[in-house]
Amino acid sequence: EGLEKCPFRGTRIGGAIGTAPRTDDWWPNRLQVELLHQEQPVSNPLSDEDYKTAFNNIDFKQLKQDIKEVLIDSKDWWPADYKNYGPQMIRMAWHSAGTYRIADGRGGAAQGMQRFAPINSWWDNGNIDKSRRLIWPIKKKYGAALSWADLIVLTGNCSLEIMNFPTFGFAGGRRDAWEPDRSTYWGPEFWNGKPYDESPTGGNHLGHPEEMVNENLRWVGGPKEDYHDLENPLAATHSNLIYVNPEGPGGNMDPVDSARNIRESFKRMAMDDEETVALIAGGHAFGKSHGAVPADKIGAAPEAASIEAQGFGWHNPVGTGNAEYTSTNGIEGSWTPNPTNWDNDYLINLFKFDWEQKKSPAGAGQWTPINPDAPKTPDAHIDGKMDDLMMMTSDIALKVDPAYRKVCEKFMSDFDYFTNAFAKAWFKLTHRDMGPKDRYLGPEVPQEDLLWQDPVPACNHELVTDLDIADLKNQILASDLSVSALVSAAWSSAAVYRHSDKRGGANGARIALEPQNNWEMNRPTELNQVLDTLKEIQSKFNSNQSGDKQISLADLIVLGGCTAIEKAANDAGTHVQVPFTPGRMDTTQELTDVESFDWLKPVSDGFRNYHNDKVGYRVSTERIFLDKAQLLNLSAPEWTVLTGGLRVLDQNFDHSKHGVFTERPGQLTNDFFQVLTSMDYEWVPKSSSKLLFDIKNRENGEAKYTATRCDLIFGSNSQLRNIAEVYAADDGQERFVHDFVKAWDKVMMADRYDVKDD
Ligand code: HEM
Repeated sequence: EGLEKCPFRGTRIGGAIGTAPRTDDWWPNRLQVELLHQEQPVSNPLSDEDYKTAFNNIDFKQLKQDIKEVLIDSKDWWPADYKNYGPQMIRMAWHSAGTYRIADGRGGAAQGMQRFAPINSWWDNGNIDKSRRLIWPIKKKYGAALSWADLIVLTGNCSLEIMNFPTFGFAGGRRDAWEPDRSTYWGPEFWNGKPYDESPTGGNHLGHPEEMVNENLRWVGGPKEDYHDLENPLAATHSNLIYVNPEGPGGNMDPVDSARNIRESFKRMAMDDEETVALIAGGHAFGKSHGAVPADKIGAAPEAASIEAQGFGWHNPVGTGNAEYTSTNGIEGSWTPNPTNWDNDYLINLFKFDWEQKKSPAGAGQWTPINPDAPKTPDAHIDGKMDDLMMMTSDIALKVDPAYRKVCEKFMSDFDYFTNAFAKAWFKLTHRDMGPKDRYLGPEVPQEDLLWQDPVPACNHELVTDLDIADLKNQILASDLSVSALVSAAWSSAAVYRHSDKRGGANGARIALEPQNNWEMNRPTELNQVLDTLKEIQSKFNSNQSGDKQISLADLIVLGGCTAIEKAANDAGTHVQVPFTPGRMDTTQELTDVESFDWLKPVSDGFRNYHNDKVGYRVSTERIFLDKAQLLNLSAPEWTVLTGGLRVLDQNFDHSKHGVFTERPGQLTNDFFQVLTSMDYEWVPKSSSKLLFDIKNRENGEAKYTATRCDLIFGSNSQLRNIAEVYAADDGQERFVHDFVKAWDKVMMADRYDVKDD
């Protein structure tokens, strides 16, 4: 009787660990502060591994040879189309990289996220579980020295090479993730144009788009209005449909619509028209689509499949369930007569023939040549059988869209140009999210600097010594620059970093260049005064050197901030030395892609109480703030201590006093936390929108301070409040200054892959 009620038998209080309802189920709207604490070393069985050294010790030539042998060694459990796994591996690599979105830098190939939900189970990624399992022998052989993320991309390259395509290069250095990414918003998914909840299998979670898990769904694209407004991904309309429905938006078979959809989707991946055509036409030179069996016969996706499937999903019960019975997307056929060779037949045939709609055996809409003389393509498995050529609606799109058409014509007339364009676009696609070139490993790293890599010249001078640093600090203090202005310049230059794709940061001094120097939140007028003064100090210092010792503006901006913080702490009675690591370089406007850098501008930034009212946020500002903290790779205590410090250092973008809960701004005190946690005050919304608040003295009702949601969240959210209490306590001031300086240094050093490992 007693045992029957044991919770693990599921009779007394529900299920075992992890069973709903849990905190997230009860309070879905609470700020999920724990999202800052994903990917802890404890979840990584290789956290003690020096990946750089291990990877560099690999015999790279041997590795590539090993991969290339696997690619042509067909296995009975998943027979290779055309006896060549190359095409399916190219698709695997492309889908691993194609989740990248420039708006927040998340997604992409760099962590091997394809191994985990939800990505491993997207209909779009059908049968890629087989591709990864086929290369397990390689992963097994190289173990910790070769991440899945690197292996996936390298296998894509090897596949292209065995099919006579000259790749542009390869860089290793991707560190695997060890758990699903729970923070990225992937956008709503749809079944036959209906939201997930109305799908045949029903919603499986809270009925909230962000909570949806696509189990066994055929994603066919959302309603048309859903792909727009790239300006403000966290505001207004927002969706991140990663791929394009091959049958046109919502399955409408309209190539013109499809072209619009493709352009939007590839723009999100930071690809222009030429790169987009190069990628699609280049990719579809290889392999085939699989549609032997209707989707409703196919089993559950990997994440929902039975335990005995051991990670495989999409069980196909028809025939052998593979080879000529394979069903992946549902469309059937190949684009070219020779799908395992690099040639120009995809474009030539696309333009040479007229195409008419037909249904695949699985019932999907596709296109076939009208002309009876059109070449046929050998069947992938049945000897002697010849099949019709196939195009998808998304392929026809390249022919009907005027701008894409122009690119196609250029590619058709100049195969070498096309080859080069595809090679470069493929390299960008698969390396876009790796950050500075300092992180690239291996013998195939291309010499050439590419604009999307945000080049910063390598350090070419001797570095300043401790004595020089002391001297420079004195000069900075002797200038008329305020603590607030110096901190603002340094913070602005460094905090633009985002850990997702490792772009931005203080190196390069891009804060002095377009577009960052003009962003309203960077206080442009004041910033330019700081930069002018620092440049004077810099040129005086540099011209006084006899050798090749120099200081860069990038370094001096950071040093200015460090100096100001030491002064601010000192003025508050706490003596501290703020670490400073020289070695940054200055880059140029020519090496700065203005449009691409504009994506780094936050739509809202709680660190500076920057909220653009014109935008009309759909998401509360504190959630955007959490997003920003996560992009900066901060923990909850780091986020909290930095915010409290920046407030008393008067860092609001417009010099407003919101959250500046202190009588002595400019001093590094824990006043913010003291006021926040004090019962002497009550907090009253200024209006029903609850964006601004008055802090009133409970005794006399006098309004003392004002605050935004991004201030009050540290007193309202239970996790953050507990951290705020640590810094508000009577023993909190020392700890506050110490922790602030540590977190500050982390932000200043965020992009310094020249001197630190990941
Ligand atoms: C296959 C759609 C872009 C490379 C496929 C399949 C679909 C598809 C539906 C068939 C999957 C299956 O049933 O096996 C699209 C759409 C694209 C796009 C809608 C964008 C508009 C690309 C790009 C590349 C690429 C950019 C690579 C650079 C491939 C390859 C295959 C393939 C190599 C053959 C896979 C195999 O033989 O197993 N694509 N694709 N595709 N795609 Fe794409």
